[in-house]
Amino acid sequence: MIYIIQFFAELIDIHRISANWLLVSGYNEFYLSGKMKNKYIHPCLINGNNKPMKILKKIALFMLVVLFAIQFIRPEKNVSETPDNAVFEEETNPPEEVMTILTSSCYDCHSDNTKYPWYNNIAPVSFWIADHIEHGKGHLDFSNWDSYDSKKKDHKLEEVIETVESGEMPLREYTWTHSEARLTDAQREAVIEWAETTRLLYQLDQKPQ
Ligand code: HEC
Repeated sequence: MIYIIQFFAELIDIHRISANWLLVSGYNEFYLSGKMKNKYIHPCLINGNNKPMKILKKIALFMLVVLFAIQFIRPEKNVSETPDNAVFEEETNPPEEVMTILTSSCYDCHSDNTKYPWYNNIAPVSFWIADHIEHGKGHLDFSNWDSYDSKKKDHKLEEVIETVESGEMPLREYTWTHSEARLTDAQREAVIEWAETTRLLYQLDQKPQ
């Protein structure tokens, strides 16, 4: 949004500067004298008509008003009174290194408790963050681990391996601003090893009695 406004502001500025330049350098008369008929005439100079600039200004102003208005819309925060990853952590028993990775790189989008950055107070960034959390939890929610059966848990861990191995997770947009969430090769290895071992546990559980 900011970039869009900046773009329009710059566009208006370029327009004004180039119009002024044409006036100062006398090109105006040259253009309008008919010597350059059918050639491009700067729109700002036709009958002193400033229409394009006015329209751009209106658009920029409108966008500013919209930007201001949406600040009052606040998505509900993903913060639970009783944060509960206990079932997940007990069952999968991540070693300390993996636990640290999950906490700093995954829980913000895949659990009931997000540690919000300050810019979550600014719309539309807040909408974007809320959207990530909603989708993230829709795919994988460590706080609702007990609602999955063994087959699903096994499958979710398989996806964890795939997405961490490919570097798809944690989301790149997240690591832009959370540099501590970026995973080293060794950290990726640790997560994969833990997930592979834990999958066996759930696969055994799926066998018929
Ligand atoms: C910034 C939020 C965010 C963070 C941080 C994050 N994820 Fe995700 N995750 C998502 C979103 C959004 C999706 C849904 C992706 C989609 O729709 O394609 C997702 C999907 C997934 C999926 C399911 C993939 C599938 O194929 O369905 C897995 C598994 C996953 N994430 C694991 C992780 C792990 C492990 C971490 C930490 C290393 C992590 N994520 C960090 C937002 C996040």
